Amino acid sequence: MDSAPPAAPVPPEGPAAAASSATALARCATGIEALDAILAGGIPRGNMVLVAGSVGTGKTTLTLEFLIRGAERGERSLFLSVTEATSKLIQNVASFEFFRTSLLDDGALVMVDLPPIMAKLGFDRDELSHEDLDLLIRTIRDLVQSLGARRLVLDSITSLGYRIPRDEQLRDFLLRLGEILAEADCTSLVVSEISPEPGRYSARGVEEAIVDGIVLLRNTRRLGDILRVLQVVKMRGTPHSRALYVLELTPIGILLAPHLKGGRRVEE
Ligand SMILES: Nc1ncnc2c1ncn2[C@@H]1O[C@H](COP(=O)(O)OP(=O)(O)OP(=O)(O)O)[C@@H](O)[C@H]1O
Ligand SMILES: [Mg+2]
Repeated sequence: MDSAPPAAPVPPEGPAAAASSATALARCATGIEALDAILAGGIPRGNMVLVAGSVGTGKTTLTLEFLIRGAERGERSLFLSVTEATSKLIQNVASFEFFRTSLLDDGALVMVDLPPIMAKLGFDRDELSHEDLDLLIRTIRDLVQSLGARRLVLDSITSLGYRIPRDEQLRDFLLRLGEILAEADCTSLVVSEISPEPGRYSARGVEEAIVDGIVLLRNTRRLGDILRVLQVVKMRGTPHSRALYVLELTPIGILLAPHLKGGRRVEE
């Protein structure tokens, strides 16, 4: 793994940046403009946010854009993949205009496959023990500290959760992960895979209570078409809209537009 320092930070520019610098200090701008507008500047720093959605709703793409935009600003970004091989993810993300392979080469963006690391740690049983989870948390903490990571993504807690059978273990794992990341001033997105039924944010119902925020991605039908929609369900530490936004995955990144029905905004 390359541990060279990340790219130099891009200084904020213009009067708007200067005027908002007091709030900007406490915010982690996702770099997805419309999402930052919904969040009054970004995710409160150190927060752990669940990105929940059913298959193909754009969870991985959103989290990768968050990391890449951060890496471009000089915030070292760490992707922990449980679900998909990072080599495949890199191939997929290469088609987006906001991605440069040099971010990987200079270590600003670090992509890590968790399963081989867990195998190396000697986790040979399907179900992780208390000691295994303790070691996993310490390994992630050491990785975050040694890299100086300011942004982290775990994709996904659902896949990892298959190896954490008891709900109290899963709760404890997420609580401790949230603590070590907040201590490191590292803002994180944790992916949650859910079924398409409305009203659910995680497979086990444990995750949503612990995290600081929830961004929900859904598929919805309109005029025979399937749209992706995004909603910020909760975000501790900031006021935000709970309106629905239509999400488009474009070559320049994620775009959001208000979801309208009969000319009126859809709130839930
Ligand atoms: N590079 C790309 N360019 C354009 N569209 C893309 C690109 N990558 C992904 N997509 C679109 O986004 C969809 C889902 O992307 P993504 O993998 O982010 O979703 P996901 O919610 O993480 O899915 P899963 O539940 O399978 O992990 C794809 O099915 C495809 O339609
Ligand atoms: Mg995914």
